[in-house]
Amino acid sequence: MDIQAIRQDTPLTLSTIYLDTAAASLPPDSVLDTVRRYVLDTGHIGIYLPAFRKETYARVDAVRTQLAAFLNAQASEIAFTKNASEAISLVAQGIDWRAGDEILVADTEMLSNLLPWKRLEATRGVVVKMVAADAEGVLSPTAFAAAMTPRTRLVTFSHLPNSTGALQDAAAICAVAREHGALSLVNASQSAGMVKTDVAALGCDFLAGCGRKALRATEGSGFLYVKASLIESLEPALTGWWNGAYDRATGNIGFVAGARRFEAGCPIVPAILGLGAALDYASQVGVDAIEARLRELTAYAVRVFSNIPGIEIYGPKNAAQRIGIVPFNVRGVDPATIVAALEQQNCIIESGNFMADAILARYGVSTMARVSLHYFNTHEEIDRVAALITSAIAH
Ligand SMILES: Cc1ncc(COP(=O)(O)O)c(C=O)c1O
Repeated sequence: MDIQAIRQDTPLTLSTIYLDTAAASLPPDSVLDTVRRYVLDTGHIGIYLPAFRKETYARVDAVRTQLAAFLNAQASEIAFTKNASEAISLVAQGIDWRAGDEILVADTEMLSNLLPWKRLEATRGVVVKMVAADAEGVLSPTAFAAAMTPRTRLVTFSHLPNSTGALQDAAAICAVAREHGALSLVNASQSAGMVKTDVAALGCDFLAGCGRKALRATEGSGFLYVKASLIESLEPALTGWWNGAYDRATGNIGFVAGARRFEAGCPIVPAILGLGAALDYASQVGVDAIEARLRELTAYAVRVFSNIPGIEIYGPKNAAQRIGIVPFNVRGVDPATIVAALEQQNCIIESGNFMADAILARYGVSTMARVSLHYFNTHEEIDRVAALITSAIAH
C-alpha cells in the first residue's frame, strides 16, 4: 500500500490529522471529482437532456452492480438509500409483524439501530429484547441463542459498533438466527470498507451500510442489501414514481422488480456516483490490505495511548478483536476539553455519548472521547495525537 500516494489523493491529510472516520471519512479526490463533474454536467449539459439522463441512469445501474459485487450479492438485491438509518428503517417498516413477535437487538447499538425497532413496540405490538455484550463490548452467539424463543422474528447487531471498536463474529450470530428460523440484519455502517463484507459468508438476510464512513464516499450514499428470496415479502415503506406504478382503471399498485422497489423518487445521483468512485478506490487499495493495515494501526494506537496518564481505553483487550475505533476517557477530564484542545492543533477526534448509552452505561460513563482511524492514517499521527492528549490533560 502506497501511503504517500494515498495521502496525496486526500490533500487534507497533509495539513490535518483526521481521526474521525467513524463519523464520516475523508473522500479521496477521485470521489470528489466524480461528484463535482456530475453536478457541473447537470447544469452545463442539462440534467434532463434525454441522452444525458439515459447515460446517468446507466451509471446508477453500473454502481448498483459494482456495489453488489463488492458485497458478493446480486445487483437486484441492492437498494440505494440516503443513509444506514433509512436502510434499517426500510426493513423495520417492511416486515409483516404480528403482535408478540420478538426482535433481538444487541445493546451495542446506537440509536439508528434501536429506534426503528422500539417504535414497532408501540405501533405493531412487537417485543424488543436487548442482548448484552460482555464488559469489553464483545457479543456472544451463545447469548443470542439463549435469548431465542419460538417468537423471535429478527436479530440485529453491528458488525463493528461505533463506541466499542469490537469486530463481532457476525457470521456466527447470523447462523444462530438461521438455526432458530429468525431473520438477521447486520448493521455494517462502520465495517463496510474496513473489513471484507460478504453477505454470503456472513449468511445474513439484510445488511445496512453507509458509504461516507469506511468506504470514503460522500453523505447520501447509504445502501441496503435484501436477500433475493425476501424481496417480494418486504413491503416497500417508501413509494413513488421511481419504484411503483398505479393503474387507475383497475386500482392495482405494482412495484419494479428487485430491491429498487425500496427506493422512492429521484435517486441521489451525485452520492451514488461518488460511491461508485469510492468502491473503485477501495478495490484498488484492496480490502484485505485495508483491514491488515487498520488492525496493525489500531493495535499500535492502543499500545501508545496506554501510556497516557489516567487513560481508560474501552473495548476488547485482545487486539485481534478490535479494529479502527479506540474509545477512551482520561480520569477527571471532560472528553470535550480534549477534543477542543486537539482541534486547536488541526487534529480532529470526537467526544460525546455516540447515541449508544447502553454500552456507555456498561463502561460506567455518560460521555467519552473517540479516535477512529483509517488506512490513510500513520504511526506518526498516532504518536502526535498521544502527545497532544498528554499535553491537553496536563493543563
Ligand atoms: C453503528 C452505526 N449505525 C448506524 C449509524 C447511522 O448511520 P447513518 O447516519 O448513515 O444513518 C451510524 C452512524 O454513525 C453508526 O455508527
